[in-house]
Amino acid sequence: MTSLQERDTVIRLIGGYMVSDAIRAAGHLAVFTHLDEAPGMTLEELATRTSAPAEHLARVLNLLRYAGLIEQRGPALHNTRFGTVLVPGKPGSLAAFAENFTSPLFQRAWDHLETSVLTGEAGFDREYHQPVYDYLGQDTAANSLFNQAMQEEATATAESAAALTTIGEDETVIDIGGGDGTFLTTVLQSAPTATGIVFDSPAGIAAANDVITRAGLTDRCTSIGGDFFATVPPDGTTYIIKSVLQDWDDEHALALLSTCKEQIPDGARLIIIGNFLPDDYTDEAAVGYLTDVCMLVISGGRERTLADLTALLDQAGFDTAELRHQRLGPLTAVELGPRR
Ligand SMILES: C[S@@+](CC[C@H](N)C(=O)[O-])C[C@H]1O[C@@H](n2cnc3c(N)ncnc32)[C@H](O)[C@@H]1O
Repeated sequence: MTSLQERDTVIRLIGGYMVSDAIRAAGHLAVFTHLDEAPGMTLEELATRTSAPAEHLARVLNLLRYAGLIEQRGPALHNTRFGTVLVPGKPGSLAAFAENFTSPLFQRAWDHLETSVLTGEAGFDREYHQPVYDYLGQDTAANSLFNQAMQEEATATAESAAALTTIGEDETVIDIGGGDGTFLTTVLQSAPTATGIVFDSPAGIAAANDVITRAGLTDRCTSIGGDFFATVPPDGTTYIIKSVLQDWDDEHALALLSTCKEQIPDGARLIIIGNFLPDDYTDEAAVGYLTDVCMLVISGGRERTLADLTALLDQAGFDTAELRHQRLGPLTAVELGPRR
């Protein structure tokens, strides 16, 4: 016979999607923004600001308190340090990330998780009859939100990732699948004489020129739209693939790496940056296990261990005997080719 405590724990786990939806609703009602602008407001004040009746709002706030996102001291409501992460526009914010991954567009893909487990087919493809990046290429609003979510992620990790990337003078750095250029512009800030190219799909680079302009780098950074399975820009000295391979199953990841092997000039470096799974299960890798199943559902991809990546690089024809890797927090940079 199970105890009530065990049942209670399982009910909390089953309610995971209810917490997700509470985060989504609170984001739409700007709860985290209001509590950031006026910390300590009362339920009644927050109800007025959000136009939500206090009696209903209080119930969702309790769920957010349980989730550790807000707290109440006397009548005063506050964001916790975790709730602050959901305030849009703040450094390190995950507000667009939350909006994207709790959206009906993405959540409907999860309805097919069982099929994904049985067949390996992405739930997204099953729901929408096309791969996620094809879909995003045709839906401007969804693409813009997705790119904002990626920008938040890239902004949060850019400085650490840049610290793993030493760029010499007069290098040409090509960021393959570089999104809106958030990472490459950070790298170029600390390499004042290097030039760079953000290479991504036309939808992926939609906001890249704005990011490059805001970074004051129009004289030495450009963006090019294209398909990285077919081609990568020539003449780079360092090629970077950051947070891209996990989007793809082994067949596609190998195709991308094979394109790189064929087209990257002799003497150029390839640096692959990502969060790799440990060889053995550990609770500390929880986010990796979440994103691993997320990749299965959304894109048919997977998170990998360093050994998995090395095997793919071998298959693509790279000489992995000289592979180097360095780690900073959860990020690892795997480097092939001449040292710089
Ligand atoms: C998960 S995002 C990572 C973006 C960026 N590197 C970062 O670290 O934030 C994957 C990127 O791959 C791009 N992508 C997907 N398919 C592509 C293709 N066939 N050719 C070029 N880029 C592609 C997407 O547009 C997206 O920007």
